[in-house]
Amino acid sequence: MAKEEAEVVGEVLSSFPRERRYLIRILQGIQSKAGYLPEEAMGEVARFLGISEAEVFGVATFYNQFRFIPLGRFHIVVCMGTACHSLGGQLVLDGFERELDIKVGGITPDREYSLDRVGCIGCCTKAPVVVVNDRIYPKMTPYKVEEVLAKLKASGEAEAEGDGLGGDTEEGL
Ligand code: FES
Repeated sequence: MAKEEAEVVGEVLSSFPRERRYLIRILQGIQSKAGYLPEEAMGEVARFLGISEAEVFGVATFYNQFRFIPLGRFHIVVCMGTACHSLGGQLVLDGFERELDIKVGGITPDREYSLDRVGCIGCCTKAPVVVVNDRIYPKMTPYKVEEVLAKLKASGEAEAEGDGLGGDTEEGL
């Protein structure tokens, strides 16, 4: 676990009593500050509460609100709700998996891109929809996947140079 993550875990644990009933809130606290649940954090939580790691892991995996890998700088979420799925969402997801060479739930080795799927996000008229950080990309097709990734790469490079193009909530493409 990275130093900053260990600090986050320590900080969250110190704000809760050592009682089993706080397990979920502790896990939520760690995820909200670290962006995910580092594996070692489960052991820390288990020791803190005096329960087994298996129990902590069991609870964490039961609820799909928890993630076990960090988010990339660009977190790509492909909607797989009914409308998006029926209009080709799976092909879009396949396209991102292929282009990024990761599976859904994964992150690229440079931590630039992470990929996830989600149920309906409430803008079915724009299906199939992809969300990258706060930005919505409507009417996606497998052919637009490369284009989106090129835009993200360009905005990431501009950001690194100080132009700060990221972070708006306008629709892309
Ligand atoms: S199904 Fe994708 S936005 Fe509703």
